Amino acid sequence: MDLSDLRREYSRTGLNREDLNADPFKQFELWFEQAKAAGLIDYSALSLATATVDGLPTVRTVLLKLFDRDGFVFFTNYKSTKALQIEENPRVSMLFHWLPLERQVIIQGTAVRVTAMESLKYFASRPRGSQLGAWVSPQSSVVSSRRLLEGKLREAIKKLAGGEVPMPEHWGGYRIQPQSIEFWQGRENRLHDRFRYIHPSSDNRWEVERLAP
Ligand SMILES: Cc1cc2nc3c(=O)[nH]c(=O)nc-3n(C[C@H](O)[C@H](O)[C@H](O)COP(=O)(O)O)c2cc1C
Repeated sequence: MDLSDLRREYSRTGLNREDLNADPFKQFELWFEQAKAAGLIDYSALSLATATVDGLPTVRTVLLKLFDRDGFVFFTNYKSTKALQIEENPRVSMLFHWLPLERQVIIQGTAVRVTAMESLKYFASRPRGSQLGAWVSPQSSVVSSRRLLEGKLREAIKKLAGGEVPMPEHWGGYRIQPQSIEFWQGRENRLHDRFRYIHPSSDNRWEVERLAP
């Protein structure tokens, strides 16, 4: 299939340096709220890229569950492929694509496990079905059939018989502590606006630089 004619112009709005918040977390919050207000479906979804130490990358979607000045948090299985890669190489990248707004946000940072307390708090807020799912799915492992998973779910439902579902030890969150955050706004003629906030480790302030599109 030849897709060479598939394109559109990006002309909704621009992004000016003087409109950027000096604090990238505030800037992110503004764009996140705008993605929500625009009614974008799954606006909290992001692509998370991890890599093995020898450089083999993997990317997949996860849901952002919390963000604040300490970083961006998602939850997962600590035995999954992504978690194994993070444990050997904590340097990751995240991408939010809010394409109807002609925007993307790209974050590079370091993943650290959240505290068990934080994971417990979020686990307790999940629907029961998701809590049980965390027990029965050996995420990223090869399984022989769907029937096997459904059988394990039925067993778990019977075993717990309406009681509280404990959090599995192999389940919890990661917080991405950003070193750089790029805000990308599509513009006409492919002259998009790109601003990258960089956090120099020697200093607490964020520097902002414009990148060529
Ligand atoms: C919209 C969407 C949201 C998802 N959210 C999560 C999530 O928050 N955590 C998670 O572990 N997997 C989530 N997944 C599944 C992952 O994309 C992936 O299949 C799974 O985590 C296994 O990835 P891995 O084998 O690379 O570790 C989501 C998938 C989609 C499409």
